[in-house]
Amino acid sequence: MTYLLGIDTSTTATKGLLINEEGSVVAVAAAEYPFESPKPGWTEQDPALFWNGTVQSIRAVLAKANVSGKEVAAIGLTGQMHGMTLLDAHGAVIRPCILWNDQRTAQQCELITNLIGAQRVLQLTGNPILTGFTAPKIIWTREHEPENYKRIAHILLPKDYVRYKLTGEFFSDVADSSGTALFDVGKRQWSDEMLNALKIPRAWLPEVTESPVASTKINAAAAQATGLLAGTPVVAGGGDQAAQAVGTGIVREGTVAVTIGTSGVVFAQSDSYRVEPQGRLHAFCHAVPGKWHLMGVMLSAGGSFRWYRDALASNESYDDLTNAAAAIAAGSEGLIFLPYLTGERTPHPDPHARGAFIGLSIRHSKPHLTRAVIEGVTFGLRDSLELMRNLGVPTQQVRASGGGAKSAMWRQILADIFNAEIVTVNSTEGAAYGAALLAGVGASVYPSVEAAADRAIRITGNNQPAREADLYADFYMRYRALYPALKTEFVALAKLLR
Ligand code: XUL
Repeated sequence: MTYLLGIDTSTTATKGLLINEEGSVVAVAAAEYPFESPKPGWTEQDPALFWNGTVQSIRAVLAKANVSGKEVAAIGLTGQMHGMTLLDAHGAVIRPCILWNDQRTAQQCELITNLIGAQRVLQLTGNPILTGFTAPKIIWTREHEPENYKRIAHILLPKDYVRYKLTGEFFSDVADSSGTALFDVGKRQWSDEMLNALKIPRAWLPEVTESPVASTKINAAAAQATGLLAGTPVVAGGGDQAAQAVGTGIVREGTVAVTIGTSGVVFAQSDSYRVEPQGRLHAFCHAVPGKWHLMGVMLSAGGSFRWYRDALASNESYDDLTNAAAAIAAGSEGLIFLPYLTGERTPHPDPHARGAFIGLSIRHSKPHLTRAVIEGVTFGLRDSLELMRNLGVPTQQVRASGGGAKSAMWRQILADIFNAEIVTVNSTEGAAYGAALLAGVGASVYPSVEAAADRAIRITGNNQPAREADLYADFYMRYRALYPALKTEFVALAKLLR
């Protein structure tokens, strides 16, 4: 038998996942680890955790499946994006990896934006400079830790550090590299203009290929550590969002993913390089060769529903709450919820934005509030979809996943508010699964990423927009008017709290 191995180096664990040629999951094993927050807003992790997690999860997944290393045809890597791992000339780690959600670099973001110009940055890198991205962290290191900066010989993203340990090679892929703010996302190569302007030597950065390319091979030391066979190909892989999209079949324009976890992500493939003129969507290279993707991120999606239950209905289950809310008519009798409980990213990049119930009346009961929370989160997700539609990206079918999508009622509300077909798919293993499919393309088990997804991923359920869609179209217009109306008040409120 031939097996394919996906490895996901996430913020909380490394997951190893083995699939067979049909794309069926054979075994999964995860090794969990913590992260540190040495100061408020800072998040760091020792890269040794990534490597130990990789060794443990590979050994565990092979043992669980009773598969030997020589039956693994190829390995695909994925992981948390944007993290900065610095190595010296001997390949030793210089300092802990600064993670994707670290907020220390506001000043460096401003400096880079002023140096290069906001429009030019957007054109070249597809995005504004955001605090979590890699480039401002490098500048932060230069300013705050000059001794560490002097020692830099290599800069790697988390999964590419794992690759270095597995293969001894410095390689990355176009999708993950897109999150560095040093990458020319349109041209799919490092941006000399960004590198020169920031005086970051090109030699510090790895070679980059498209995601399914078998660019490197397991070396003898890694074979000994993991039980894999030396010489087994390791494909370039991709950042967690791109790999997760491959793993749910977002490999063609027109198919969009919405993931409702704590945060909410709307992800669409784009066959051309499209940039949202105000930078409100992330534009990155996709793990499908020669394609791009657009992405909107809502900070409190499922998180809003969890807050609501914990604060107002702590003795009820999510099912009890949604069952009762299903009896309430669409529009919650004029009650609208704003989901900006932790500020917002898309479409309002505003740390001061806050949640609200607008339109409360004496007629409203708890099930109205529940329904309004679900509708409000879904309106917010539609904002990302609208930005994509405005750029001309087709959105015929939306694939829903994550905790929120487990509710049949929420899926119908998604179909009605998005006015689009909502489907669910059989794959639930996320980025590691997509990485395993990419490995299969690199090993020629599948002829292309599209063929891999077609073979492995099946539609398991479907919701069509119902007659409520018209009513929701009107409510959505009212929802959209609320943030601009309240924006200055959110800032004023924040000032009162200082
Ligand atoms: C993507 C992003 C997250 C991280 C952590 O832009 O910030 O998906 O990769 O998972």
